[in-house]
Amino acid sequence: MESENEIKNGKVISFINMKGGVGKTTLCIGIGQYLADHAGKKILFIDLDPQFNTTQSLMNHFDLEDEYMENYRKNKSVRKLFESPTTISELPKLVKPEDVVVNFEHSPNIDLICGNIDLIFDDNQNDSARTRRVKRFILDNKLKEKYDFIFIDCPPTISFYTDAALNASDYYLVPNRIDRYSILGIKLLKQVIDRLAYDEDLKIKPLGIVYTMVDSMTLKSQRVMEAFEESSLVQEIDIFDAQTSFVKDLMVGLQGNISSNYKKSREDIEMVSKELLRRIDKGE
Ligand SMILES: Nc1ncnc2c1ncn2[C@@H]1O[C@H](COP(=O)(O)OP(=O)(O)OP(=O)(O)O)[C@@H](O)[C@H]1O
Ligand SMILES: [Mg+2]
Repeated sequence: MESENEIKNGKVISFINMKGGVGKTTLCIGIGQYLADHAGKKILFIDLDPQFNTTQSLMNHFDLEDEYMENYRKNKSVRKLFESPTTISELPKLVKPEDVVVNFEHSPNIDLICGNIDLIFDDNQNDSARTRRVKRFILDNKLKEKYDFIFIDCPPTISFYTDAALNASDYYLVPNRIDRYSILGIKLLKQVIDRLAYDEDLKIKPLGIVYTMVDSMTLKSQRVMEAFEESSLVQEIDIFDAQTSFVKDLMVGLQGNISSNYKKSREDIEMVSKELLRRIDKGE
């Protein structure tokens, strides 16, 4: 076990894909929970998706739905990071972790900044300064010294929030389902990230593509996958050896969508998590 007060060298990772429903949230929670509860890593989840699925899953897992509503009323959520002063003479207020971070008594290695459905009201592509707020929050509060990993769950479209996530991130990880739309999706994603990295002078690196919900392969799906893997962009981002298979319990099981809670997905998430650690070691 690592000690609570040790100064860490935390990494911020965005879970991102322009496509919806590819398993971003499930993988983000799955890896984070595995690393926290089975590998002694300290994890902060930031839910930057107005759908707030990460928040729902974790609050439900810890039986804290009422607290979520209470936090929502008090604006103890990621939305607070984007608040702006109302006069020109004020600087934006430094948001402190205690203003936004939720701790879990039963999982001391997991912290969460809740998502908020009202994020849709803040989306403003013309306000690039505010897309640096998550980055500022992490830097000003030295959160990389406190967490081993900060995982950001992104919405499925390129928006103000994906810019905010990428601005704050050291790496991005791309959960992906193989289908006919995946090649174009990855191409557009890479272009968006490369452009933002240029504009904002970012050092963000691809951690890799993780195949999710892998089911038995037909000849046709094999062909689509081969075409996908031939793309030079895909090779540049690189593909994890480990993948997650389709496990229906993750949708409907009583243990929620926490991968390590089911026998069928436990080994998958362990392999993906270990490969993530190896890839980060190699990337440093
Ligand atoms: N390995 C898996 N096996 C079976 N079902 C899965 C798996 N991973 C995710 N799912 C299910 O697929 C659906 C979409 O997954 P998830 O919400 O993680 O995707 P997402 O990319 O975050 O979606 P969105 O774009 O809406 O944010 C959910 O119902 C989830 O429970
Ligand atoms: Mg999601």
